[in-house]
Amino acid sequence: MKLKVCVIGGAGYIGSHAVYELIRDGHEVVVIDNLSTGSRNMIHKDAKFYYGDITNKQDLKNIFNIECSVKPFDVIMHFAAKLIVPESVDKPLEYYYNNVEGVRIMLEVMTDFNIKNVVFSSTAAVYGEPVNSVCSETDITCPINPYGETKLASEKLIKWVCKKYNMNYCIFRYFNVAGADKSLEIGLNKDNLTHIVPITVQTALGIRKSMDVYGNDYDTSDGTCIRDYIHVSDLADAHVLGAKYLVENNKSLLVNLGSNKGYSVLEIIKEVEKHYPVNYKITDRRKGDPAKLIASNEKAKEILGWSPKRDLSEIINSDIEYRKKIMNKS
Ligand code: UFG
Repeated sequence: MKLKVCVIGGAGYIGSHAVYELIRDGHEVVVIDNLSTGSRNMIHKDAKFYYGDITNKQDLKNIFNIECSVKPFDVIMHFAAKLIVPESVDKPLEYYYNNVEGVRIMLEVMTDFNIKNVVFSSTAAVYGEPVNSVCSETDITCPINPYGETKLASEKLIKWVCKKYNMNYCIFRYFNVAGADKSLEIGLNKDNLTHIVPITVQTALGIRKSMDVYGNDYDTSDGTCIRDYIHVSDLADAHVLGAKYLVENNKSLLVNLGSNKGYSVLEIIKEVEKHYPVNYKITDRRKGDPAKLIASNEKAKEILGWSPKRDLSEIINSDIEYRKKIMNKS
């Protein structure tokens, strides 16, 4: 089955990986992006690109008019969100506008053009301080920051709109995403990185002199926080399966994307140290970090037949190779 997929935010880190996997699976891809955090060189050469902002209804309408007059989109994928937790605390108005109003406009345009299927990127941040350290989709959602709130609000908006207009949604709640595509053409490349994997790799490669480990007094085996790390290409594979599921089954779904397995911050550092030494020091805890966050991925396995194919060593290895490549280029 060849689908026509519109990827909003397809020039960013996760969106660009979804585009690569969609194209590898033989689908037609149209990317819409405002290039605020993404960049043109992240867009696969076989995807069609339109500059457009999700909060500008006219932008979306113009693009849908051109594209849907030739062939309507089978599926819309949404990646066009702001996603930095501390920034969301500082700029709640901006986060609600971009993340929730953007989704509302996207849904309005979808209903105008009678497009039936949407794949939406949500986050483990909707669980807040998890009640169970292994989260399943039926756990209580109680975000502790505006970022998580905007994602939960968007999930609910999508569900109500899909119910009213007979549409289908596939909502994915991501855990800790890292790594780079095997081509090394795309990866997480931006200033002011905050995530543990790229920061550890940058330290190992000498791009940073040293890194901080935020607390070693948590109630975990070595005292540092435990997270569920997932390769960005596994996540992208799930999006391809999700899109096909919607079209084939005409049914909605909401699933976690994680690995059922957690690693501590020190275990991440140890994995990177298999390649290069890492200079780090233990500092105070960072605000808002739960001790342990792991996804149950039983539902993804059962419904989509999806489970991660790439392990932690592959995640780290691909990030190292990608960073070495962009270092040599600059
Ligand atoms: N950490 C450090 N030093 C650093 C950076 C991070 O010790 O320099 C620690 C953090 O304190 C945390 C762990 O590494 O314990 C992971 O932190 P990240 O910033 O890499 O990721 P988070 O778990 O905070 O958040 C990410 C996404 C969220 C998502 C969440 C789901 O940013 O959007 O994963 O698990 F909700």
